[in-house]
Amino acid sequence: KITADTILCCVVGNPVKHSLSPQLHNAGYEALGLPFVYTAFEVEDIKSALIGMKALGIRGMSITIPHKVTAMRYVDELDPLAEKIGAINTVVNNHGKLKGFNTDCFGAIAALKEHTRLKNKKIVILGAGGAARAIAVGAYSEGAKITILNRDVKKSRELARLVDGEGLPLTSIAKLKEADILIQTTSVGMHPQISESLVPVDLLHKNLIVFDIVYTPLVTRLLKEAKQKQCITVSGYKMLLYQAIKQFELFTDHQAPVAIMETALLKALTKKGTHGRK
Ligand code: ATR
Repeated sequence: KITADTILCCVVGNPVKHSLSPQLHNAGYEALGLPFVYTAFEVEDIKSALIGMKALGIRGMSITIPHKVTAMRYVDELDPLAEKIGAINTVVNNHGKLKGFNTDCFGAIAALKEHTRLKNKKIVILGAGGAARAIAVGAYSEGAKITILNRDVKKSRELARLVDGEGLPLTSIAKLKEADILIQTTSVGMHPQISESLVPVDLLHKNLIVFDIVYTPLVTRLLKEAKQKQCITVSGYKMLLYQAIKQFELFTDHQAPVAIMETALLKALTKKGTHGRK
């Protein structure tokens, strides 16, 4: 029941109507009986939105496209990992003091940690955009050895420098032979281009863990082929789930009901014609 004591959280972005975050967070609040409500706002001016957050006492904000970089300027404090990544997807309001976090980073690491430790593991990351950056910084902080492969090699090298790794062009994909973990962060394979994959099947070996952050379709061509080669596979929706789990915990100070939120997410993903990639 919504009362004068209800605590508000929300996602801001543009566009934002497709966001699954309200379903995910509200399912968690309901399960735990917390006096929280989570809504979505289509926002052009992120500075005003963050000033408004303080004025209205909004407890938590998820920040999405196109505001993840700009929003950093308008918070009072930054989590060190978010600062290194150079983007935030989460703002927590502690009695009028705004702190920025990047839970995309945590989400990707948590998804992988269901299957493996990361310390000293050789990780190949395909892509060097915003998502790759959050994941690379997270994996590096766990002690992984990182190779970035990107179409634009300048971006590979730049990201590699940030994580003491190696930056190569996408044509060096044979690097996968020596890798323990592959993380696919580009939009290749995402709906409607579902028949595409950047990875030749013969480079998939059974000791490779394959994580594709694309979640529409839930099983991409890459993941399908990796399964056929007996790789352990990690679906992109897990990153979406765990970044929200971390936000839930930052906003409410309660442990998130993971199974319930996972069910809510999968239900929303199979019902709606959503397209995405964290
Ligand atoms: P995000 O912030 O969501 O990660 P982004 O910053 O636009 O998105 O990054 C997209 C990544 O996917 C980039 O690494 C991009 O490669 P380039 O830097 O060479 O542009 C990669 N990407 C997108 N489409 C691709 C394609 N068809 N083949 C290979 N890489 C692709």
